[in-house]
Amino acid sequence: MAAILIVDDQPNFRFSLSVTLRREGHDVSEADDGRQAVTILEHAPCDIVITDLKMPGMDGLSLLKEVKKLNGSCEVVVMTAFGSVDTAVEAMRYGACDYITKPFQPEELVIVVDRTLDRLGLRKRVKDLESVVGGAFRAEGIVAASPQMREILHLIAEISHSDGTILITGESGTGKELVARAVHANSRRKERPFITINCAALPDTLQESELFGYARGAFTGATGNKPGLIEEAESGTLLLDEIALASPSTQSKLLRFLQHGEFRRLGENRERHVDVRLIAATNSELNDLIRQGSFREDLFYRLNVIPIHVPPLRERPDDIVLLANHFLNIFCDDEARQVDGFRQDALDLLAAYDWPGNVRELENAVEYAVMLTKNGHITASALPPQVRSNGGDGNGAPRTLDQVEAAHIVRVLESMDWNQDKAASELGIGRTTLWRKLKRYGLKPKKRASGGAGRQQK
Ligand SMILES: Nc1ncnc2c1ncn2[C@@H]1O[C@H](COP(=O)(O)OP(=O)(O)OP(=O)(O)O)[C@@H](O)[C@H]1O
Ligand SMILES: [Mg+2]
Repeated sequence: MAAILIVDDQPNFRFSLSVTLRREGHDVSEADDGRQAVTILEHAPCDIVITDLKMPGMDGLSLLKEVKKLNGSCEVVVMTAFGSVDTAVEAMRYGACDYITKPFQPEELVIVVDRTLDRLGLRKRVKDLESVVGGAFRAEGIVAASPQMREILHLIAEISHSDGTILITGESGTGKELVARAVHANSRRKERPFITINCAALPDTLQESELFGYARGAFTGATGNKPGLIEEAESGTLLLDEIALASPSTQSKLLRFLQHGEFRRLGENRERHVDVRLIAATNSELNDLIRQGSFREDLFYRLNVIPIHVPPLRERPDDIVLLANHFLNIFCDDEARQVDGFRQDALDLLAAYDWPGNVRELENAVEYAVMLTKNGHITASALPPQVRSNGGDGNGAPRTLDQVEAAHIVRVLESMDWNQDKAASELGIGRTTLWRKLKRYGLKPKKRASGGAGRQQK
């Protein structure tokens, strides 16, 4: 388990945190100020430092900078008083990986630590991978400042250990899949597979065979026996994404599985059993579909044992700045750019915009802005047009032709899923020309994580 150092000037508080973390199997040390922490860090290895921000002597921010100097791979989580999210954001700019607002329940800290450890593991794996393929990396952690999202984190902590079926609802891009992954990562199933089947990506005829498998000869082309994703997810978690688009026969088979724990492969007579936790996600109003007769009400109740609704970003404005900084960190790491943060005018626009595409749109907007801002701060004029026009700042600072060209190329690439051949022909230029422009603007081709057949495996 992890080596963790807790830094806080209140001994009782420190003690209760270390008891909780020790119970989770971590190796915990304590320090009551920054200076003592540095001494400990100089003598013993450490994976995570959890520090208060306000302390007498050396404060949390200075400690953070020291830690990063001493050991760049040591992660820092800051604890901040309610209402001082600004300082937390500043800390994240200096390299803190997460923050937690006081007062909090010890289990919340456990979630933050787990998340950090997941990320540490991820980062190591990604470093190895990157050296091979030079790909882009996205952190998987959930950023949550708003009361609504913190409530969801609470809920995840409470329900992860049960096997109850979960129905996650919310508009597109709100983070439903991330929530599903967090549930899995906090459950006893975490070492086992997390498998996604996207009902929207599969025609009705393939849904059933992908999900439940088939026997040889079940249909033309079934030349062998094949287990379905539900069997691949044995002892793990299966995410049924876009459940609203499950075909009628998939729906009835799912219902049977939820009622009796059994299913049959297509073309087979014997019942099979698996131990799989189901999580369903949708951005549709299932109630409407039930009324229209395209979704089974009995299935809805079986799925909706634990409902989680992820609110749209416009209903939780507290998350916007933190998410923007989070993505900024990620994209700066990716591109090795020196972008220090957002100017106030940019932050104002981000806060005023209503984000119909939710967190995904914000993520894309930050990526776009980072690309237009090679160095320094992101200003209003670097934000995408839809965000700028919202604040009436459509004619912000003039942009160079290069910037406009780079932005247009990215937009076309995005719409072609980064297929360079298609993008080049759409842009009316040759492939080599496109390649040269990508190099010139420092744009790296990237792979989108969408499994063509609608299946993804972690
Ligand atoms: N709270 C969050 N913290 C950090 N990243 C987030 C958060 N919420 C969403 N994201 C990021 O935003 C993007 C969209 O999230 P996700 O794919 O989970 O949304 P979704 O609700 O499943 O969308 P859709 O309905 O379109 O499938 C992802 O890149 C995800 O990592
Ligand atoms: Mg999704």
